[in-house]
Amino acid sequence: MRAIVVSTPGDSSVLEYAERPDPAPGPGEVLVQVAASGVNFIDVYHRQGRYPLPLPFVPGSEGAGTVIATGEGVTDLVVGDAVGWANALGSYATRAVVPADQTVPLPRGLSPELAAAVLLQGLTAHYLTHSVYAVRPGDDVLVHAAAGGVGLLLTQMAKLLGARVIGTVSTEAKEKLAREAGADEVLRYENFSEAVHEITGAGVHVVYDGVGASTFDGSLASLRPRGMMALYGAASGPVPPVDPQRLNLGGSLFLTRPTLGHYVATREELLGRAGELLGWVASGALKVHITGRYPLAEARRAHDDLEARRTTGKLLLIP
Ligand SMILES: NC(=O)c1ccc[n+]([C@@H]2O[C@H](COP(=O)([O-])OP(=O)(O)OC[C@H]3O[C@@H](n4cnc5c(N)ncnc54)[C@H](OP(=O)(O)O)[C@@H]3O)[C@@H](O)[C@H]2O)c1
Repeated sequence: MRAIVVSTPGDSSVLEYAERPDPAPGPGEVLVQVAASGVNFIDVYHRQGRYPLPLPFVPGSEGAGTVIATGEGVTDLVVGDAVGWANALGSYATRAVVPADQTVPLPRGLSPELAAAVLLQGLTAHYLTHSVYAVRPGDDVLVHAAAGGVGLLLTQMAKLLGARVIGTVSTEAKEKLAREAGADEVLRYENFSEAVHEITGAGVHVVYDGVGASTFDGSLASLRPRGMMALYGAASGPVPPVDPQRLNLGGSLFLTRPTLGHYVATREELLGRAGELLGWVASGALKVHITGRYPLAEARRAHDDLEARRTTGKLLLIP
């Protein structure tokens, strides 16, 4: 099979397109012929060594395709089943071994490309809007990088739940996309917390912040008393240590640093969230913006585009 391999951490040049032996599924695993692999910011952190992994490794956590072999003890999947996943390292490949309990069965008629495009970022937007802070009608919600992969989905879900959504973006083209996704107000990053208070008066009920270092202070300043700061990523870099007293001064604020894995902790939770998510996609209630399809061999270019803030919506690698 062909795969992208990282043998040493570094910039995008460490992503090597290579021939690898076909993997065999172990107990509880399935082998999948990959139709599409999702590109996510976590793949950049893995490549850089910011979240270190044993070397060498095949990056990518998300994909979809067809089961071509099953390992011992797998009873609920058979060869030919269409599956997707959001948490199985090794997805930047023509074939991937995936733990059966991490797979999501694809509803009939849903293309594997669409599944690979929406599972990781969609499950993330789902747990952020339904569990980390359950958005209610009339809430004011701030979504950073609102035209990004997670951002466009967060914006749509918060609107479905009845919130007023304020988004931040860096360009006019991104502003247009965020508005099309339903954002009521779209701001640039400069002095955004002042603008948030002009719009809302008291501040927002929740900030969904995947940008991190460059937005963190403004995000805390945008919250109303007892508001929730959901710091779920660090696209601009990691946030330095925080003095808890700042939460007191800000108005008894909440701060959480959540991760998808903890919110799809059981098979029941994974299938529950995925079922709802894929249902919205199938019905058209949720739009998935696939804005870049790159041949697998061009993973470097996908990473460069993502890191340089040139992208919107979802990027896929096609084997
Ligand atoms: N915790 C979780 O469970 C979880 C799950 C999925 C993703 N995430 C995190 O969510 C964040 C978004 O992921 P994504 O895959 O959807 O990416 P993305 O939002 O499509 O891309 C990142 C965006 O962040 C914005 N940004 C602001 N400052 C930046 C900088 N200095 N460098 C690069 N980008 C910058 C850019 O939008 P503008 O140009 O409009 O600013 C950029 O397009 C990432 O931090 C990721 O790690 C976390």
